[in-house]
Amino acid sequence: MRSLFPVTDQTAAATDGEWSLGDLADRYAYPREGAWLRANMVSSLDGAAQHEGRSQPISSDTDMRIFGTLRGLADVVVVGAETVRLEGYRPARARDAFAARRAAAGQGPAPAIAVVTASLDLDFTLPLFTEPLVPTLVVTGAAAPRERVRAAEKAGALVVVAGDGAGAEPARVRAELAGRGLARQLTEGGPRLLGQFVAAGALDELCLTVSPTLTAGDAQRIAGGPSLAVPERFALASVLEEDGFLFTRYRRI
Ligand SMILES: NC(=O)c1ccc[n+]([C@@H]2O[C@H](COP(=O)([O-])OP(=O)(O)OC[C@H]3O[C@@H](n4cnc5c(N)ncnc54)[C@H](OP(=O)(O)O)[C@@H]3O)[C@@H](O)[C@H]2O)c1
Repeated sequence: MRSLFPVTDQTAAATDGEWSLGDLADRYAYPREGAWLRANMVSSLDGAAQHEGRSQPISSDTDMRIFGTLRGLADVVVVGAETVRLEGYRPARARDAFAARRAAAGQGPAPAIAVVTASLDLDFTLPLFTEPLVPTLVVTGAAAPRERVRAAEKAGALVVVAGDGAGAEPARVRAELAGRGLARQLTEGGPRLLGQFVAAGALDELCLTVSPTLTAGDAQRIAGGPSLAVPERFALASVLEEDGFLFTRYRRI
């Protein structure tokens, strides 16, 4: 893998060659202070965020290494319920490569998964809810169906109310999680959820993998929903390249 930006990067890992998970973790380290919401998404060259309902066909092994690294650095992975349903989400694993770094940062062995949902139409018998290393969070609104809330809690999930109506309010999701000590936040989408974080001005950083694939068709882009009145500007922070995949990182200005 090559580092293409910043061009002044003089680290050993910046040269073409194998990057260890430790090298990647250094590159993607969270800022030291405060809540930080980062998104990690992959897009085809023509803007598709999935192919036949999954992101795997436009991803790569290196993309999955970076995906794993970003999880290894996070306190919490925030994800929309449809992505959980379509991608068959499982609990995050504890990985040796990140154990020392996590312990030093005062983090648990693996990030919590926080599923954002209004319906709570989720299968609470799945390992995501019954077998996580740290309890899975279900983030919803105050008007969420009572019976489903009870089912979530019975399965061991922690229900977090982050909105006054049926759904969660994106800025409140971020604040509620930070208030529980989950400051290093990573969202893995999907597009409907990411669009809301963008619209609320709640996203600090986007880790976007540009996949050298074309899919045509009408798949969603990485962020959906109503468009912003004025496009929000981000600044390029980093670009890595391998096998034609660009692993970009942009920060809100
Ligand atoms: N390219 C990538 O990097 C990437 C990443 C992730 C996903 N994907 C793809 O994206 C597709 C799924 O994404 P999607 O955009 O359709 O769905 P999504 O954003 O993953 O989930 C949408 C669901 O999340 C819940 N939700 C969203 N906003 C909410 C809010 N404010 N309050 C409460 N609940 C809220 C709702 O769940 P309920 O219906 O339960 O109320 C809603 O139906 C899949 O095909 C997946 O493969 C691609």
